[in-house]
This record gives sequence, C-alpha cells and structure tokens, in this order.
Amino acid sequence: MISGECAGFAIFAATVGEGGQPSRADVTAFYDEFLDRQARVGVNARHRAILAWLLRFGMRPQDRVLEIGCGAGTLTQLLAEALPRGSVFGADLSPRTIDAARERLAGFGNAEVVAGDVLELDAGEEPYDAVVLPDVIEHIPVELHDALFGRVAGWLKPDGFALVHYPNPHHLEWCHENHPDRLQIVDQPVHANVLLDNAYRHGLYLSYYELYSIWLREGDYVVAVLRPSAGVGGFTRLPQPRQSPIRRLARRAARVARRLLGRDG
Ligand SMILES: C[S@@+](CC[C@H](N)C(=O)[O-])C[C@H]1O[C@@H](n2cnc3c(N)ncnc32)[C@H](O)[C@@H]1O
Repeated sequence: MISGECAGFAIFAATVGEGGQPSRADVTAFYDEFLDRQARVGVNARHRAILAWLLRFGMRPQDRVLEIGCGAGTLTQLLAEALPRGSVFGADLSPRTIDAARERLAGFGNAEVVAGDVLELDAGEEPYDAVVLPDVIEHIPVELHDALFGRVAGWLKPDGFALVHYPNPHHLEWCHENHPDRLQIVDQPVHANVLLDNAYRHGLYLSYYELYSIWLREGDYVVAVLRPSAGVGGFTRLPQPRQSPIRRLARRAARVARRLLGRDG
C-alpha cells in the first residue's frame, strides 16, 4: 500500500496542447479543482520537511524568498513565520488556489502571492536569497525546464540557492505503471541527469542531493540544492583542532630520527 502524495487524483478529461501535453487552460482548471484536496490536507509533514531543509541550507530570518507553485499557501505560511525580518513572494498557476492562499496569509505582512505561470512571472527586479520549488517541477512539462531554470538562475543572488523538492522519479514511474489514477494532470518523473542538464546550462551547480523518506520506506522525495556558479569564490582553511604539545614533540622527534637515519624523503 502506498500513501505518498502521488496518491490522490482522479481522472481529468484534458485536451492535448503543444508538445503532446495538456493545454495550460486544462492544467489551470485541474489545479483550481485540486484546491479542495490541498485545503483538506493543509500543512503536512512534507511542508515541514521542506522548511527544515531550507533552514538547514542557510535560509535566515531576514531573507527574501521566492516560492514557485505555492499552492494554497501552506508552505508559504511556514515561511512567513520563519522569516520575521524577511519576506516570501509566492506564485501559482491556479487563481482559485491563490485566492485561498491570500485568505490563509491575511495576517502576515511579509507574504505576498500572485496567480500566474512561473514561465511568465514578474518577480520584481531585486534578486532573492532563496528560490524554493516545492513539488512543482514534476508538474511543469520537462521540455520547459530549460526556460524554467533560466528564470530561477536569473532570480537568485550570487550567494543564494534554489531548493527543488519533488517526488522520487522511480516512485512516479511506479505510479504511472500501477496507479495512473493517482497522478496529477502532468506528473513526470524527473531524473537527476535531466534536472542537472537544465540547471547547469544556466550556471547553477548541484551542491546537495538526497533521496529521502517521509511516508515511503524506499524514499518518496528528492531534495536538491542548486547554487549559482557565479557565487563560487576563494577557498579558506577550516580551523583544525590544536595538537597537544606532547604529540607535537613526538612528531618532531620522529622527524629528527628519520633524518638521522637517512630515511627522510
Ligand atoms: C502538487 S501542487 C503543490 C502545491 C504546494 N507547493 C505544496 O507543496 O503543497 C503543484 C502546484 O504547482 C502549481 N503549478 C503547476 N504548474 C505551474 C506553473 N507552470 N506555474 C506556476 N505554478 C504551477 C499548481 O497550480 C499546484 O498548485
């Protein structure tokens, strides 16, 4: 029995748009309807896990964060709470979902959400400390990932990072074979080679990748952290633990002994 989040969606009669994918209107309509499920689930373990990853990779209370595919504002709310001196700007394709997110976020002065396709989003001129894509890239046709990562790279500060969270591609393949009824309208496995191909083309390098478990023993989610190569600077030595004087003396004595015995290289 699986209980991951590929679970849960019903048959949706989509018309086929460009590249054999459902049209944008159909995808929007799907997510307008999907809102009922998102609202029912609310904040869950996956959202909390994503927040924990962001904090682990350096998100600070004063940061400006851009959230792509913010849905009903569940993670957005956690972000607004975690960014007391910063802000979160979220965007989602589905206008109905954005209405629900606005309601959820009404009490937060540091959270703003807009409806629109990430590929056309105006996220302002100022770059972001972090861009988070929480379970959205698998729903954006993979042929568009080149353009997507071009935009993500353009939104980041040189020392910023993008955190991409998405389902284990092998699990999604398994769902396609065994439970297509549980898939969303566009729900593609994203293997690391495809992710990295698109990211590296836009000057983003992989700084962390992990397949990990929330609900499935075999690993249901991937977290990948991408950073701008432009932010790679000099390298500095880490402070090392000091050697005890006795050890230092012993090493020096060993060196002298080697020299006296003519074995010093
Ligand atoms: C599985 S839901 C995840 C929602 C939320 N991020 C979460 O973690 O609960 C995927 C979301 O991506 C949004 N989405 C899909 N394609 C998009 C696009 N091209 N631009 C912006 N949002 C998109 C959908 O409207 C939907 O709300």
